[in-house]
Amino acid sequence: MTPQHIELVKATVPVLRENVVALTEYFYQRMLNNHPELKNTFNLDHQSTGRQPRALAAAVLAYAENIENPSVLAKALERITSKHVSLDIQPEQYAIVGDNLLHSISEVLDVSMDSDLIAAWKAAYTQLAELMAGIEQAKYQQLAAQHGGWAGWRGFKIAAIENNALGAVFTIEAADAQAVLSTAVDALISVRVQVPQHDLLQPQQFKLTAISDTSYSFAVASASDASEFSVANILLQHYQVGDALEASAPMTL
Ligand code: HEM
Repeated sequence: MTPQHIELVKATVPVLRENVVALTEYFYQRMLNNHPELKNTFNLDHQSTGRQPRALAAAVLAYAENIENPSVLAKALERITSKHVSLDIQPEQYAIVGDNLLHSISEVLDVSMDSDLIAAWKAAYTQLAELMAGIEQAKYQQLAAQHGGWAGWRGFKIAAIENNALGAVFTIEAADAQAVLSTAVDALISVRVQVPQHDLLQPQQFKLTAISDTSYSFAVASASDASEFSVANILLQHYQVGDALEASAPMTL
């Protein structure tokens, strides 16, 4: 990035921050309209609360504010990249997010896509995206290299469902019956299910309650104010012992 890019980006952070709700709503709507396949990646139940959309835009703004010293964001990047890895986010998806984010910034700031300002934001976003995608690739490689480890989604089947006072404890085993990665109880596992009556997959993270050489267990509590995309409710209402689902390698965030 040039010093001029840095100045332009920093000067526009406050006005974007003031308009973060409009920015993120426009961004997500635009992106999911243009790339409906990403509805399988984003948790649509989370989208409806607006929590996640704001998290992404807020992180981009925080990065822009600290553009001269990105190391202050190292801890946040560690967490976000782990979350991304648990959701199998891939480098090529950064271009889609970037394109839609830049159009949204152009809209909110009312400046042309050909302006110097958008060129500056493009340089800032690209720098962040390359940094994050690089950290994520290293994490995928590290997970895949471990005993029982893997990168991305892996087929599992439900081995047991035990009801308790808090909900139901699901135990899942790899479909290939091979070992699974050992990790700490309390690590988060992303589970991906098929949404009934929709041609759609939905992911959600659950906290592990037990681990064996070949299985993971996690508790699922019913979500009362959730939408039809709630993975917890789909698991509780539609999934049975023997059914297939997918999971990514557990991560401690
Ligand atoms: C520079 C670009 C990006 C930034 C700054 C960013 C930032 C974030 C942040 C802050 C979170 C919340 C993390 C948490 O819960 O602790 C998040 C979650 C997430 N991100 Fe990103 N992200 C970026 C790119 C992407 C891309 C390219 C994709 C894939 C298309 C993606 C997909 C997701 C998903 C699916 C979640 C979880 C959302 C949920 O809870 O449903 N992100 N990201």
